[in-house]
Amino acid sequence: MRSHLFILLISLLILKSESINCNENSHSSDLRVFHINSQCSPFKTSSSWEDTLLQDKARFLYLSSLAGARKSSVPIASGRGIVQSPTYIVRANIGTPAQSMLVALDTSNDAAWIPCSGCVGCSSSVLFDPSKSSSSRTLQCQAPQCKQAPNPTCTVSKSCGFNMTYGGSAIEASLTQDTLTLANDVIPNYTFGCINKASGSSLPAQGLMGLGRGPLSLISQTQNLYQSTFSYCLPNSKSGNFSGSLRLGPKFQPIRIKTTPLLKNPRRSSLYYVNLVGIRVGNKIVDIPPSALAFDPATGAGTIFDSGTVYTRLVEPAYLAVRNEFRRRVKNANATSLGGFDTCYTGSVVYPSVTFMFAGMNVTLPTDNLLIHSSAGNLSCLAMAAAPANVNSVLNVIASMQQQNHRVLIDVPNSRLGISRETCT
Ligand SMILES: *[C@@H]1O[C@H](CO)[C@@H](O)[C@H](O)[C@H]1NC(C)=O
Ligand SMILES: *[C@@H]1O[C@H](CO)[C@@H](O)[C@H](O)[C@H]1NC(C)=O
Ligand SMILES: *[C@@H]1O[C@H](CO)[C@@H](O)[C@H](O)[C@H]1NC(C)=O
Ligand SMILES: *[C@@H]1O[C@H](CO)[C@@H](O)[C@H](O)[C@H]1NC(C)=O
Ligand SMILES: *[C@@H]1O[C@H](CO)[C@@H](O)[C@H](O)[C@H]1NC(C)=O
Ligand SMILES: *[C@@H]1O[C@H](CO)[C@@H](O)[C@H](O)[C@H]1NC(C)=O
Repeated sequence: MRSHLFILLISLLILKSESINCNENSHSSDLRVFHINSQCSPFKTSSSWEDTLLQDKARFLYLSSLAGARKSSVPIASGRGIVQSPTYIVRANIGTPAQSMLVALDTSNDAAWIPCSGCVGCSSSVLFDPSKSSSSRTLQCQAPQCKQAPNPTCTVSKSCGFNMTYGGSAIEASLTQDTLTLANDVIPNYTFGCINKASGSSLPAQGLMGLGRGPLSLISQTQNLYQSTFSYCLPNSKSGNFSGSLRLGPKFQPIRIKTTPLLKNPRRSSLYYVNLVGIRVGNKIVDIPPSALAFDPATGAGTIFDSGTVYTRLVEPAYLAVRNEFRRRVKNANATSLGGFDTCYTGSVVYPSVTFMFAGMNVTLPTDNLLIHSSAGNLSCLAMAAAPANVNSVLNVIASMQQQNHRVLIDVPNSRLGISRETCT
């Protein structure tokens, strides 16, 4: 009965979200999530997202060169050359009266930062102007939040600043507090970085919202309101509507959902770790050395869910085992390479299934989560890669392409991560 009600509720939400425009939200704590290349996105480019990534080796190599989860950026095409930016955006309203920004979602970072008026080197023409907000204030060095900022500094005027790098970019920001409005929820005194200076091209144009589990993240700052519980459904880049959702708080979360324990790693306190115990290709559990999957708080090794990385990266022995079995099961066709993908096929071939086996939860990927398709030449590639060998990479990253059209539930109080199929495209 409960599950029927739940399905009904979800259906209503889906129906409702189909009839709304880009600026509206389904209910009070449900934010629409857009793919960066969707109709609703001002950052949309003319070419197909997948073709853009597939056909540009340089961009893929750039992507591959980023170290695992923390550099959660993805290249997109732009008239000015290569611009890297995360893939999913939501609308955040900041200040009094509210100034609207489309911020990138990043589950592997904590701090939020927004380009502010007067910023030197910010690419966006949409900037937040604190002087036009009656609720804005700059935090002083003695504020407890200053200690939580990355590399905090104290300016001559005793205000708190911080510097950080993101992908290939660097920012200098002042720690600021203001009212944040997400959908219909008002969050007073939200702490974020107001970017004064930026360099590099990896920054999301209108800023970033960190959904990590560290102290300065949205999740930690809204503990009373949302109780460290949220879920999201990332839309597919191919659809015409791109209406995903970010649902904050324990209300309206799926009740019946497969879950696996959420693990905490003190070395990488922002990240959402899970225990990946094996990978099945077809009906075969592939032979992966246990050390390639093991969770190790001492080294930071293990498996995380990340919204900012596009393709799943497995440490090399794990990837090779999966890829080899995948290739073995594709009959009468030889794999070719394209860009950084090494298991691509032309025309119609039958693909084996791939199942991630987490502790207590198996997730079999539908074909759309497994393959990236190029419209030219009927080429499809296994949308996974080995973690770059040139980096001391010990992380397996379950990336956004593999999470699309699933609801991913992060439930910190109950230490669990849930996943269920949901069409949010
Ligand atoms: C997009 O939404 C409209 C209703 O608003 C629906 O008719 C259409 O089929 C949807 N398109 C896709 C590709 O899902
Ligand atoms: C931040 O960057 C500014 C300008 O590059 C520099 O003056 C300052 O020392 C930096 N602070 C830290 C903590 O690195
Ligand atoms: C926000 O900060 C101001 C200034 O410190 C304070 O007066 C106010 O009570 C705070 N509001 C809330 C809801 O915490
Ligand atoms: C695959 O490659 C092998 C070795 O080069 C060749 O003998 C075989 O005919 C190829 N198969 C197909 C379907 O192209
Ligand atoms: C996952 O799949 C494996 C192998 O097929 C099976 O042994 C295991 O019981 C499954 N686990 C769950 C939680 O369903
Ligand atoms: C792709 O496949 C379809 C059907 O299999 C075929 O009609 C079409 O010509 C192919 N396109 C290319 C570019 O190979």
